[in-house]
Amino acid sequence: MKERNRPFKLTDIEGVGPVTAKKLMDAGYTRVELVAILSAKELSDATGMGLDTARRIIEAARRLVGMREFISAKEFYEERKKIGYITTGSKALDNLLLGGIETMAITEFVGEFGSGKTQLCHQLAVNVQLPRSEGGLEGKAAYIDTEGTFRAERIIQMAKARGLDPDEVLENIIVARAYNSDHQIALARSLFGRPDIEEIKLVVVDSLVSHFRSEYPGRENLVVRQQRLNAHVHDLLRLANLYNLAVVVTNQIVSTPDIVFGNPNKPAGGHIVAHNCTYRIWLRKSKGNKRIASIFDSPHHPQGETAFQITERGIEDL
Ligand code: GTP
Ligand code: MG
Repeated sequence: MKERNRPFKLTDIEGVGPVTAKKLMDAGYTRVELVAILSAKELSDATGMGLDTARRIIEAARRLVGMREFISAKEFYEERKKIGYITTGSKALDNLLLGGIETMAITEFVGEFGSGKTQLCHQLAVNVQLPRSEGGLEGKAAYIDTEGTFRAERIIQMAKARGLDPDEVLENIIVARAYNSDHQIALARSLFGRPDIEEIKLVVVDSLVSHFRSEYPGRENLVVRQQRLNAHVHDLLRLANLYNLAVVVTNQIVSTPDIVFGNPNKPAGGHIVAHNCTYRIWLRKSKGNKRIASIFDSPHHPQGETAFQITERGIEDL
């Protein structure tokens, strides 16, 4: 095979000529990296090509981007050692998370309105840029805003509080407003193979489920909604693993009044979100600026809770 250089073109994939490349483009698979992570069924459904052809194209795309199937457990161990951590701004909250927000994982903040989800997302978009010695990853952030609550002014405040150059900090955050769930999915997918994706160390989706909930209401739409949401969450997980970046999503609380036992309030998104978010943190409002965070559903974090505060400067210890 001829050596090809990044960024790859679709026609660099063995067996893909201009006609197939156009089919892929039309289906929204604009980058080789995106083709590489598809299943044959997904590609076949989207383009109308046969399953065998789809499988061959995906395999060729994987070879091109250097995706490997099996690796040794030693390599696996070495990969895990590359995990990075982003400080939340609060030592107490970092400790609860056993070091901060992890790369190669999805961290979910769930809580009622005003509990600080969006503030945390803003803070992390700033903190990811910090030097490693100060709890950052010297990286950029990509921010998918589904509710129109991203505020550059707030980023400037937080940057100044950290002694960072606000202009530079703003330059290092790419923001997109997602207008509906399809758009949200497309925005996340557009990150695969972006020329600067290796620099991006944090992807924020604020909020993950709200578009899906409003567009697919009621039980009759539940199956389609969960399928779409599942595809989206898997894209996010693949992004996190492929590029060693942190994904942070926010989620709302919904009440299920028909429940007989237990807490009637639970995170939206059901099992799809529950199973695929690596770390889930519940935020609650307390007096004034104070917020309580508790970790739930984590395989290797002890159950526990801690407090932090939201101030002018951002997220801080009490
Ligand atoms: P929804 O998106 O509505 O579900 O809420 P959320 O969880 O995203 O809440 P958000 O992060 O927007 O928190 C808003 C709260 O942060 C406000 O009610 C304030 O208490 C606090 N806050 C935001 N900016 C400032 C600030 O500059 N100073 C202080 N002290 N608090 C702030
Ligand atoms: Mg919010």
